[in-house]
Amino acid sequence: MAKYLIEGGHRIDGELRVHGAKNAVLPILAASLMCSETAIHNCPELSDVTAAQNILEHLGCRVAREGETLTVDARNVNYCDIPDALVTEMRSSILFLGAILARCGRARVSFPGGCELGPRPIDLHISGLQKLGAVIEEDHGYLDCYVDGRLKGSEITLPFPSVGATENIILAAATAEGTTVIHNAAREPEIYDLADFLNTCGALIHFGLGDSVIIEGVRRLNGGEHSVIPDRIAAATYLCAGAITGGMITLTHTRPAHLTSVFPVLEEMGCRVSCADDEIRLSAPDRLLGIRSVKTMPYPGFPTDAQAPIMAAATVARGSSMFVETIFEARYKHAGELMRMGARIKTEGRVAVVEGIRRLHSAVVRSTDLRGGAALVIAALAADGVTEVQNIRHIDRGYARFDENLRSLGAKITREN
Ligand code: EPZ
Repeated sequence: MAKYLIEGGHRIDGELRVHGAKNAVLPILAASLMCSETAIHNCPELSDVTAAQNILEHLGCRVAREGETLTVDARNVNYCDIPDALVTEMRSSILFLGAILARCGRARVSFPGGCELGPRPIDLHISGLQKLGAVIEEDHGYLDCYVDGRLKGSEITLPFPSVGATENIILAAATAEGTTVIHNAAREPEIYDLADFLNTCGALIHFGLGDSVIIEGVRRLNGGEHSVIPDRIAAATYLCAGAITGGMITLTHTRPAHLTSVFPVLEEMGCRVSCADDEIRLSAPDRLLGIRSVKTMPYPGFPTDAQAPIMAAATVARGSSMFVETIFEARYKHAGELMRMGARIKTEGRVAVVEGIRRLHSAVVRSTDLRGGAALVIAALAADGVTEVQNIRHIDRGYARFDENLRSLGAKITREN
């Protein structure tokens, strides 16, 4: 099992290019199934992207990678099922349901289990697709879906602005008969990027005032090229690495506007943050300050995916910090591992209180999930001694060349497979 060895105490300084957004490219790859030939640029090399590639190839698409560009030829899709092995490889494979249904008129997808963040229900995905005319039955751990003729546009109100459900409904509605309006839709930048891609390929999607998305169904989608937006969570993660080590870091190829809820938290911790065009610069104090309160919210609120990296930085801050995790019900698994490094953290349901200490010490810790794993690496950068972070396949899902990038910024980190 792969692991990182990290010697703490080295400042993270320098310049780094941020890769394309995992959470944009995954729904875009699902969308490519509904098109003819597409080219997706700024596509990061991540294990989740490889998993999505495997699903597309299983369905009959031809996928080729040249550097950061993935080309997909979906003209000959001849399957409409995603077998168990491919679903367990990546929980987000549920995002393919709407696209397969729209393309084939039927779909059979293994029910994605829960994951490290707690139960991950898909009731909003299912009810949304049913509103568009899909018949969905559960059969021994599989979802059997079909539609008689074409999917039909409808008006759908989401009780919660679920990112995945919004994406699945947009995908299915893009070639449905008639217009679909989604109220209380998620408004994450990745949703806009998916709509941009689909519109490039001939879809008619626009965003109404407030939280509605309007999708006018078209008969078919063509091909097109698209460059994926930068990964705002990867950017936040590298900023935390600079913050915890008293470093000075410049990130390029970013979209600063996507991080406007993260900058104030870093500034409250004593960092100076400045932005110019596609660059974000952070310079950190010798010792960070605690944060009064960080509450995760749907975009444009503070992103739940940045909670763990910021918590890692807070463990060595002067003073206490409070976190309220409103999006997922079990997203503090990294706290237990941080405590093995000496961190003082109390969690109670969706609330966590971190009492900052002067120095963490090294330990053998295990990644619990993607962002929790990244948080352990961030903590290890500032810990005394050499920390071993195990189970780093979680990290490989969402951070391309993570150790290589951190080494280029001065970290003493090696990967052992
Ligand atoms: C997406 O997950 C992201 N994943 C997550 O990033 C991110 O944390 C999350 O959105 C919130 O921003 C991808 O885009 C691939 P949700 P998703 O549907 O779509 C509940 C990372 O680290 N819910 O907005 O699963 C759900 O249980 C990952 O990159 C239902 O109850 O998020 C959760 O509590 C982690 N029923 C909340 O809504 C449903 O049908 C948010 O889920 C769907 C969701």
